[in-house]
Amino acid sequence: MPDRIYLIGFMGSGKTSHGKQIARMMSYEFRDMDTWIEERTGKTVSQIFKEDGEPYFRQKETEAIMALSQLEKVVIATGGGAPCFGANLELMKATGLVVYLQLTPAALLSRLKDSPTERPLLAGKSEEEMLETITGMLEQREPLYNKAHMIIDGLEGVNERVVNAIQRRIS
Ligand code: S3P
Repeated sequence: MPDRIYLIGFMGSGKTSHGKQIARMMSYEFRDMDTWIEERTGKTVSQIFKEDGEPYFRQKETEAIMALSQLEKVVIATGGGAPCFGANLELMKATGLVVYLQLTPAALLSRLKDSPTERPLLAGKSEEEMLETITGMLEQREPLYNKAHMIIDGLEGVNERVVNAIQRRIS
């Protein structure tokens, strides 16, 4: 197994914060896919959705995975939709350990409703509408997320036990 970890999971599941922590604990580098795309395009994710459309963003995600899969000793936080389009999930599974950060719709809502990060797929929705959207999208996406090599309970978060389990899988 290559020394590369992909964190997947729904928006707001903590892929960036937990990813940074895993990277710190393993002395790995950390990369965020959305940031990679924003740096390469010079636009925010919201701008890309508005100006270029979602299919263009999904194309950029595949390019991001292809580029980031060249790095070693790295933890990569993916966008929530990344494993759900094209051959992205297969590409990630072939080039690293894929870890799903799992949370329930209610837990995701409580993290997302006060999040400062702009998320075009949830923009302008009331809490009730957000819960409905999260529940529906998670139902569609979870069968794919569940194909990860490992599942972490998002409420437990990252600790020695979790990092040891990851280390066992990649050594
Ligand atoms: C998306 C998740 C976002 C970002 C974009 C689309 C999705 O990333 O890539 O807004 O389809 O779930 P986060 O999961 O980091 O919020």
